[in-house]
Amino acid sequence: MDVYEKLMAMAKRRGIIYPSYEIYGGEAGFYDYGPIGSMLKNNIENLWRDFYVMRERFMEISTPVITPYRVLKASGHVDKFIDEIATCKKCGASFKVEELKDGKCPLCGGEVERGVLNLMFETSIGAKKQDKAFLRPETAQGIFVNFPLLQHFARKKLPFGVVQIGKGFRNEVSPRQGVLRLREFSMAEAEIFFHPDRKMHPGFDKVKEKRLKLLPEGFEREEIFTLRKAIEKGIIQNEAMAYYIALTHDFLVSIGVDKEKIRFRQHERDELAHYANDCWDAEILMQRFGWVECVGIADRSAYDLKAHMNSTGVNMMLTDESKKVKKKILKPKMDAIGKEFRKNAPMVIEAIKNADYGDDIHVEIDGKKITIDERFYEVEEVEEYEKFIPHVIEPSYGIDRITYAVLEHNYREVEKEGESYVILSLPSKIAPVKAGVFPLVSKDGLPEIAKEIEEMLRENGIMAVYDDKGSIGRRYARMDEIGTPFCITVDYQSKEDGTVTVRYRDTTEQERVKIEELVEWLSEKI
Ligand code: GLY
Repeated sequence: MDVYEKLMAMAKRRGIIYPSYEIYGGEAGFYDYGPIGSMLKNNIENLWRDFYVMRERFMEISTPVITPYRVLKASGHVDKFIDEIATCKKCGASFKVEELKDGKCPLCGGEVERGVLNLMFETSIGAKKQDKAFLRPETAQGIFVNFPLLQHFARKKLPFGVVQIGKGFRNEVSPRQGVLRLREFSMAEAEIFFHPDRKMHPGFDKVKEKRLKLLPEGFEREEIFTLRKAIEKGIIQNEAMAYYIALTHDFLVSIGVDKEKIRFRQHERDELAHYANDCWDAEILMQRFGWVECVGIADRSAYDLKAHMNSTGVNMMLTDESKKVKKKILKPKMDAIGKEFRKNAPMVIEAIKNADYGDDIHVEIDGKKITIDERFYEVEEVEEYEKFIPHVIEPSYGIDRITYAVLEHNYREVEKEGESYVILSLPSKIAPVKAGVFPLVSKDGLPEIAKEIEEMLRENGIMAVYDDKGSIGRRYARMDEIGTPFCITVDYQSKEDGTVTVRYRDTTEQERVKIEELVEWLSEKI
């Protein structure tokens, strides 16, 4: 058994993560988080909020999963969010084209038929199911369509960031990688809006000497660069991208991903998503799967805002008050228009006002197309502030893959009394349960004291679990397996001097702490 297999068996036994709908035979690409797993995932998401909402000062929003057709038509997902697939004519299995072996079915060697699959799940809205819609393939579009309001909340000051944590959906062709390729998955995405020429970050100076493993486009293998060098050599295009690479690295390390097993790989031109002009993936090394993409940091340029502006006519532009540009505008000649067009004059005036210099201007009168030429307007040169559509840099995190990586990198097996013993060495701040609380024996008033301690900890926001089943050794083992950093035991001495033993998960060392000081003691350690 490899680590994946052992870990997933333990994860099911302990209520961390396991395949969904098992009593109905299961459904590939869907996993449940159990009671312990849900807490773990929430803790990881909350730590992500610490980075992006607290420290970066980004705004968090929450938008619907169900997305009307017209939004995703405009964003390019209807036409371009596709995989090339192949279906075996013999065994019926489907694959991504890149999974084929010599153009044949990788399972049975049969001939295949090629096609394309749009990865979005379709649904419909309304009593007659009349309006086509999709489950969102990314949370990002919910942010882009909010831009007119968001720029107002941000007081039009760039750069500003907006985040969303939520479910995304992709009808993957052949999800054969267990928990790593889900059809319904959790994403944490940040969309950061920049002036197109100012993709900078005030925090770059602090991280520029950071040494990271980078695999730039066209390189054979990864090399270690400081971010400063990577910028100087033009390997990373701008400081903002470099800063978010550093932030992603720090986040992953802080939740317990092994820093030796993180690298940043730049996409090749032909693998970029339809909306991206550059992308660096944080890849994490996993025993069974090799390097796995867990975060994508994409430069989406003005792609999405422009698409929604073109589709709706709603202005997505901002004004750069530091830069004036000369512009030619058209001014209607009222007299000439009135004489020629009479009651149709307002229509002509409107057409002129809506046109840019150089446009051909037409109106339709009595079914006839009429060209409006320079007899009816004059060209005036004015100076005005430059208008631009902001560019977007997007760090997008796949929370499920990251959660699995954290589990794998912290999964330790040791031998105890001839048996294999599992310890999950999770960082205390993301551990689902912070403390196990045990009475040494189930009599003489010890359970009552232990229960009171458990309640006191929970009331103070520290997740604690009372356990009096089985030997102390078995109770420690259950807590070690789910990564609980501290175990508190109430013994006879507790009744005399009001102290308990606290055992550290990773060293198994113990120390005595006063019950009244436990909350502060644990809070500090966590
Ligand atoms: N928003 C990034 C992605 O869909 O992968």
